[in-house]
Amino acid sequence: MFDKALEKFLNYTENYKYLGKPISLKISHTLRVTRLCEQIAEALNLDSQNVEVAKLAGLFHDIGRFEQFKRYQTYADKNSLDHGDLGYEILKQNDFVNNKYKEIILNAVKYHNKYSLDGIDDQSKLICEIVRDADKIDILYLDTLDELITYNDNSLISDKVLEQIDRQEQVLHANLKTTADNIALHLSFVFDINFISSLKLIKEEKYITKIMDLYPNSKLQKQFTKIKTNIDTYIETREKDAR
Ligand SMILES: [Fe+2]
Repeated sequence: MFDKALEKFLNYTENYKYLGKPISLKISHTLRVTRLCEQIAEALNLDSQNVEVAKLAGLFHDIGRFEQFKRYQTYADKNSLDHGDLGYEILKQNDFVNNKYKEIILNAVKYHNKYSLDGIDDQSKLICEIVRDADKIDILYLDTLDELITYNDNSLISDKVLEQIDRQEQVLHANLKTTADNIALHLSFVFDINFISSLKLIKEEKYITKIMDLYPNSKLQKQFTKIKTNIDTYIETREKDAR
């Protein structure tokens, strides 16, 4: 089931490769997210069928990205369209997945980038939450490579963003003002992680420290120190609660 779908995914994305690096980056992101979905699903002790479903949802979660980029030359949903919705439509129209789990996978794709999961059924929700964790983990990984965030203005994290982080909330896009706020947003992903195994992975890979170390601005480092303590406390509490 999975191998066939992977072949279909690779064939489909082949048609977009002429658009260059943004496409190949998205393909490699997808493959890492698929692997992460498998890891998270296994850590949750899901049965082999559901591990497969989680992998398929990971494989297709960003299927809307390719057409989005072709049409609008951007991955910014606010300047183009909702790529989760587009992915849902693309999967509906194609035969990428054709099994009894199709509806679950479609829903997981549709909701993977939504602010709220209200209205989704329980089984789709579980799979969707796995995808959302995997997606965030991979974004944090990419941030450690210093590739995606352009910070060259020595800005600091603004007050509203700091307040949200103090409350251990994921930062709202509406509160973003500075370039440093974008870094803070990604760090705050930790507060929206669903599963303890995902948090463990972030901790073991030291993604938070690795990201922070990329920005030597001493005033920003002071802000980071506080955020790091907050994140550490948050993870500790979640680990305790899970025991
Ligand atoms: Fe996405």
